[in-house]
Formats: sequence, structure tokens, C-alpha cells
Amino acid sequence: MDLFVVKGGTSLRGRVRVSGSKNAALPIMAAALMADGPTILHDVPELADVSSLSSLLTTLGVAVVRRTDGAMTLESASDEPCVAHYDLVRKMRASVCVLGPLLARRGRACVSLPGGCNIGDRPIDLHLKGLRALGAEIRIERGYVIAEAARLTGTSIYLGGPFGSTVTGTCNVMAAATLANGVTTIEAAACEPEVVDLGNSLNAMGARIEGLGTPFLRIEGVERLAGVEHTIIPDRIEAATLMIAAAATRGRVTLDNVRMDHLTSVVEKLREIGVRVQPRGAAVEVHVPAQLQSADCVALPYPGLPTDTQAQMMSLLTQAQGISIVTDKVFPDRFMHLPELVRLGARIRREGSSAILSGGRPLSGACVMASDLRASAGLVIAGLAAEGETVIRRIYHLDRGYERLEAKLAALGATIRRVKDDPAAIPESLAVPEDNAPPLVPWVHRPAA
Ligand code: EPU
Repeated sequence: MDLFVVKGGTSLRGRVRVSGSKNAALPIMAAALMADGPTILHDVPELADVSSLSSLLTTLGVAVVRRTDGAMTLESASDEPCVAHYDLVRKMRASVCVLGPLLARRGRACVSLPGGCNIGDRPIDLHLKGLRALGAEIRIERGYVIAEAARLTGTSIYLGGPFGSTVTGTCNVMAAATLANGVTTIEAAACEPEVVDLGNSLNAMGARIEGLGTPFLRIEGVERLAGVEHTIIPDRIEAATLMIAAAATRGRVTLDNVRMDHLTSVVEKLREIGVRVQPRGAAVEVHVPAQLQSADCVALPYPGLPTDTQAQMMSLLTQAQGISIVTDKVFPDRFMHLPELVRLGARIRREGSSAILSGGRPLSGACVMASDLRASAGLVIAGLAAEGETVIRRIYHLDRGYERLEAKLAALGATIRRVKDDPAAIPESLAVPEDNAPPLVPWVHRPAA
């Protein structure tokens, strides 16, 4: 296992390119299961999650090749396999996005349930509800979802849940409906740009989906889908993470390959906090002209502030004078980073699905533990802003979803090293603090006079 050693206190400066979106690439790769002919994808990021899905698709009979020019080609060679094994699915929950495509194209899917998750409860009841409405027979056996249907049939589906819409649930049901017999309507569909990117690539494959980017989708089923050549949208969460890192270090950073229209809520919030965000063609420049201000943040489904930026925003707000309240309405338990930020000296306490934070005091480096992908990014940002060295353990979480993050940060001037997790890797500066306190006075029992 690797860890990061981050030396804080340097303002990030320079220019880097944002990679293609992980969460758009994954369902689009899975949709290749439904295509006749090769799918060619550009700007698929090189990440652990992409490798995991590639391995899974390979076991499902898809030839996945990374070409020398960086493009990925996927071609289904056999319609036989339909089992997504636990060993592969448990590594990455997004593997569930093969469920809809497998069922629609091969008539049968046997996909392991992913199990527990560090960011809270993550049921897939809405995925199953949508697929059942399309006529699938579904049962759970030995930890696997077994779904069967000779041919799915179009229908009306409401996909809203207790926390709003579902991103991968919409992807699964929308993808499956493209090959159904007749028209499907989905109400309370997720509007995230990643869902739109999947929908656009499906349409380019021959699907007929209308209403992308709105909560109401109309899908006219077709007989077959062809392969497609498609460029994945820029990763809005990586863009937001780098913007927040620039702001937390009071740097000046230009990001290339950014879709500002996907980042409205993030940019609005950053401006409220006192960060200057200036679009420059397909790039954006971020810097902090004055003191950072506290702000309340509520993570909501798109177009609200993304839950995937909640941890990073919290790290930024530790640097902003005053009280901020950060609430997550998508994953109300997504606060594993909070006690780690407290280890760095942040003053935060949790109240239900909110964290109350008193910012503006310097953080000081310490050893911390990453618990999930975005929490890791939040801790890296806090480490960059802290005084001294911070060690972030379990960064395999971060490798799942950020392409060469430490290389990009280093290119912006950050002092960040990846080393093997070993007691010798812990810098001396992080040894137990010197105990300069006066010796404790022994407690003496004094009987009452
Ligand atoms: N939910 C249900 N039932 C369902 C599905 C979801 O109640 O059947 C609930 C969830 O428990 C959650 C809310 O609905 O409270 C939203 O979950 P959603 O299904 O939208 O999440 P997801 O599709 O599993 C994707 C991203 C996550 C991102 C969320 C929210 C991918 C591969 N993952 O997950 O990304 O946080 O949407 O935007 O697209 C990440 O990249 O680090 C990450 C966790």
C-alpha cells in the first residue's frame, strides 16, 4: 500500500489539464456490451476503477484494448457470459452499471451485490424497480442479483428515491430501455452530466432518447445498437478538486479541458467564499484575491453542489474565517473525513447530516487515514494548506478515481511524495509531540473539613 507525504504551505501555481470523467466513462464502457461492432472511446482516464471495469468486461466477453494513442476500444465478442463475480464487483460498486446492458442485450444478468460502502448506505432498489417495471424477473440469490427477460417492454417508470434521483440507477434503466420493445418514460431521472454523456453516446449508437439533462426522459426502443466513437466529457469533480486546492493554498491555477456549464454550483459557491473564478475559453483561472469567507454548503443532486465535492469544500472552509455549515443531502453519512480533519487541528463537529465548522485557524500536519475517494482528495487539500508535513494513508482510494493527481499537483508546485506505507516512511516531524507540559500534580484526597 502507498501513502502520500504532503508538505503544506506552498501556493499552487501553473496550468494543468483535467482528465476525462470517471463517472461518465464507466457506464459508457458498460454500454459497449450492447453494441454490434467496436466502440472507440477517447479521454477515458487511466484509473484503478477503469481497470477494474475493463477486467469485468473482459470476463463478460468484451475485448478491451488501450491503443497507443490513448483511445480505448471495446468490442463484445460473445453474447454468452452474463455473470459479474463478487470478487470484481466488490472492488468497485459502479460495476453494477453492467446490469442494465447485460439484461437488455443478453436476456440474463447475474451481478453480485456490491456490499458495504464507506460513504453510507447504497442500496440498488431503484435500479431493480426500474428493470422490473421493464418486465424483468428479478431475484436475489447467494448475494447475486439474477435478472431475466427474453425482451424488455417499454413502460412508465418513476425513479425518485428518499435522497432524490439515482445516477447509476438512471444509467442502468435508461440503457436497458434503449433495446426494449416500445416507449419508456422515466420520471425523476438523474440530470447529472455523466448521465447525459451516456445518453448522447447511446443516441450516437442508434438509440432514441429525448429529454437528456432533464428529470423526464422518453426512450423509444430500437432493435439494435451499433458501435460508436465518442469523447468522454471532462471530469467536473477533478476540475472542482483542483480549483478548491488552488483556493485553499491561495494559489493561481489555470485548468484546461473544463466544462464550466457543468460546474455552475461549484463556481457560485467558490465565489461566495471569496475565490475568483474566471473562464478563459475552454480553460478557467482560479485565484484568491482576499481573505476567504465562511459559507454554508448543501450537497444535492445535480445541478446542486455535488456530494463528490463535499469533503474538498470542507477542507477549504477550514481556511475561511467564521462558522460554516456543510450538509450532505445525497449521502447523509458521508463524513468519515471529519475526524481526520480534526486530527489536523480543524474545529468541526457533526450534527446529523451536517458538519459545523469554525474556520480560519491554521491546520498542522499529522498522520491521517483516507476512507474513500473524495475524502482522500479532501485530506490532500487540507495537507496542502496545513503547516508542516501530513501523511495520508490508504491512498488506494484516491487512485480509484483521480488520474495522476500527485503528478498534477507537483506540476503546480506542491511538495507531494508517494511512498510505500512503512513505519520508516513517517517523517520525523510527525513523531509524538514533545511533552513540555508541567508534571501532573498527584490527586490527593482531602476529606471534607
Ligand atoms: N439510492 C437509493 N436507492 C437506489 C440508488 C440510490 O436509495 O437504488 C440513494 C443512495 O443511497 C444515495 C442517493 O440515492 O443516498 C444517490 O445515490 P446514486 O444512486 O445517485 O449514487 P450512485 O449512482 O451509486 C454516483 C457516483 C458517485 C456519486 C453519486 C451521487 C458513479 C460511478 N458514482 O453513485 O460517485 O457520489 O452518484 O452523485 O457515478 C465518486 O465518484 O466518488 C462517487 C461516489
